[in-house]
Amino acid sequence: MTYEAVETAARGIAERTGRPSHDIGLVLGSGLSGFANDLPGAVVVDAAQLGLPQPKVTGHAGTVVSAEVAGRNLLTSAGRVHTYEGWDLDEVVFGVRTLALAGCKTVILTNAAGGVGDGLVPGDLVAITDHLNLVGRNPLVGTNDERFGPRFPDLSTVYPQHLRDVVAESAAEVGSDYKEGIYAWLLGPSYETPAEVQMVRSMGASMVGMSTVPEAIALAHMGVAVIGISLVTNLAAGISSEPLSHAEVTEIAGQAKGRFTAMLMDLIPRIPLD
Ligand code: HPA
Repeated sequence: MTYEAVETAARGIAERTGRPSHDIGLVLGSGLSGFANDLPGAVVVDAAQLGLPQPKVTGHAGTVVSAEVAGRNLLTSAGRVHTYEGWDLDEVVFGVRTLALAGCKTVILTNAAGGVGDGLVPGDLVAITDHLNLVGRNPLVGTNDERFGPRFPDLSTVYPQHLRDVVAESAAEVGSDYKEGIYAWLLGPSYETPAEVQMVRSMGASMVGMSTVPEAIALAHMGVAVIGISLVTNLAAGISSEPLSHAEVTEIAGQAKGRFTAMLMDLIPRIPLD
């Protein structure tokens, strides 16, 4: 995927939505689909019309939704594509690069994750403080286009503290405990073994999941600040004696949708725009 392809997608969004620039980006994880469609002034654009990769799950057309929240232009990517589906990493990050070129200086990445850390329970919303890339792949491998960012980007503050402070304010406002932790990226699509979960736990991770990290790297490369929020849908393998199932993940995600939505609606107006 070239810089020009991302520019074309960003231009397509401006033309189709009538909003020349957006302020905040949002990537929806499992269970949050449809979040943006009912927001004021929502304009839904088909990912295919923008040249973006289309999720392979039938009945789930990828969309990009532009809307206004408290006077901010919010651009939401619904229909994330995952590395485990067989996509190349530059396709996986095409969507977030488009959010960045559409003007977003901050992007909220949401996901469903397995809980690894002490004290986490299904239903918890957890702010990501940092990540572990355990997949051994990086979206920036290959020729570097300086228009995206530098060859060797610094990743010491991918998820800045001042934005986590804002998440904590929102959690308090909606009556949710504020929790934070490190997110470990594993490829999937199989869930982890109990030994792998013990490994990531000993490395300091609190959550484990199959997304978010390549997107966060691509955004940091472009100088975009990331807010990461994991919904713990289950205790990771071996932490609980129950077998893991995708049905459980989607069920808990469905139950948490109202709370997650309330937190995002409170959070978006608090994000500094400079
Ligand atoms: N592991 C990896 N990804 C996940 C999990 C998990 O336990 N739950 C939701 N996504």
